[in-house]
Amino acid sequence: MQVLVIGSGGREHAIVRALARDPGVSGLHAAPGNPGIANLAELHEVKPADPADVTRLAEHLNAGLVVIGPEVPLVAGVADALRAAGIAVFGPDAAAARIEGSKAFAKEVMTDAGIPTARSFTCHSEAEADVALATFGPPYVVKDDALAAGKGVVVTDDLATARKHAAACGKVVIEEYLDGPEVSLFALADGTAAISLLPAQDFKRARDGDQGPNTGGMGAYAPLPWAPPDLADTVLGTVIGPAIGELRRRGTPYRGLLYAGLALTSKGVKVVEFNARFGDPETQVVLDRLATPLAGLLQAAAAGDLAAAPALSWLPGAAVTVVLAAEGYPESPVKGDKINIDLPERARGYLLHAGTALRGGDLVTAGGRVLNAVGSGPDLAAARAAAYAVVESVEMRGGWYRHDIAERAAAGR
Ligand code: AMP
Ligand code: GLY
Repeated sequence: MQVLVIGSGGREHAIVRALARDPGVSGLHAAPGNPGIANLAELHEVKPADPADVTRLAEHLNAGLVVIGPEVPLVAGVADALRAAGIAVFGPDAAAARIEGSKAFAKEVMTDAGIPTARSFTCHSEAEADVALATFGPPYVVKDDALAAGKGVVVTDDLATARKHAAACGKVVIEEYLDGPEVSLFALADGTAAISLLPAQDFKRARDGDQGPNTGGMGAYAPLPWAPPDLADTVLGTVIGPAIGELRRRGTPYRGLLYAGLALTSKGVKVVEFNARFGDPETQVVLDRLATPLAGLLQAAAAGDLAAAPALSWLPGAAVTVVLAAEGYPESPVKGDKINIDLPERARGYLLHAGTALRGGDLVTAGGRVLNAVGSGPDLAAARAAAYAVVESVEMRGGWYRHDIAERAAAGR
């Protein structure tokens, strides 16, 4: 089977890497891809959010399966166009991807399905926003209704900052603050049935000790030794199942990856957000541990056959990923710096490319999150050591990373 992956980040590199290990895949293509992905798949030019352009490429390649990585093409209807052309696709139609594309829509689905989440108001004016902010008090949580590339959510104790963000967004969701550790749980869904992957944890803040601005994610690890063993089953029952059921009832079945961002609060598990795609960088560690061939699973989800899929099998031990970021990330990452990689032969890890490009013969930075170092081992401490050894093998002017990814969990806290 020919498989085409749409996207160009570390998440897509991880997906391509997992697909490359699947004996059912005879040809692997990525568009637009990146220099790391180019070692595993044939790259093609494409406008990723243009439904007609992606469909043309998939038809040209005779793709048996298209996997859409990022949210923007999904919200733009790329999966709709592929399905209309009779091509199997892993990724929801635009109407179902609204669960990520509109925070207000996600809240509506959760309310109708009885899914536990923060109490919220959807506001259309500054006056409405002021009432909502006063109702909940600090810390204020203010979310742009629309997709905002990770910059839509402001959590702050400062009322003026909260009001300013609300005014800048227009339509905005203001909600109750949820405390407790955050967990990312991914589920494969075929419109009716769903299978959960390993719970993972992401580190959203830029600096050590969860300081600094929010980012797309600076690192991740899986599994979570501190989480209740029945967490994934609980979330399947209280969150994923009801969401899939509600979207089916609405006539917009969800086929693809449903990402539940969760807070483990003192009052139980509550949803912080839904995403319509694999998380980045959690996917890098989750797929590192997956032993079941990935293409068959994604194909079963695309075809509505997940109920017949075998139980997933996972490698023992743990995986950690550390994101190497460019100078200036997340505000204004500097591009074009040369990257030198000197990975020791005995490394128990590898590098995934996220924001890299080739210039002349040189590998250079081309995005905020540049590389993901992935390490694994029998436990989190070993996996951390492996991931940090890999990140330290990279030389890049201005490059930086967090030093405390999975540190607390590895220490049993
Ligand atoms: P989101 O894009 O919705 O995932 O929000 C980005 C980050 O903001 C989340 O990962 C949380 O760390 C934080 N956040 C979002 N909603 C809440 C909430 N209701 N309470 C506390 N933190 C939140
Ligand atoms: N790691 C967070 C996200 O993918 O949205």
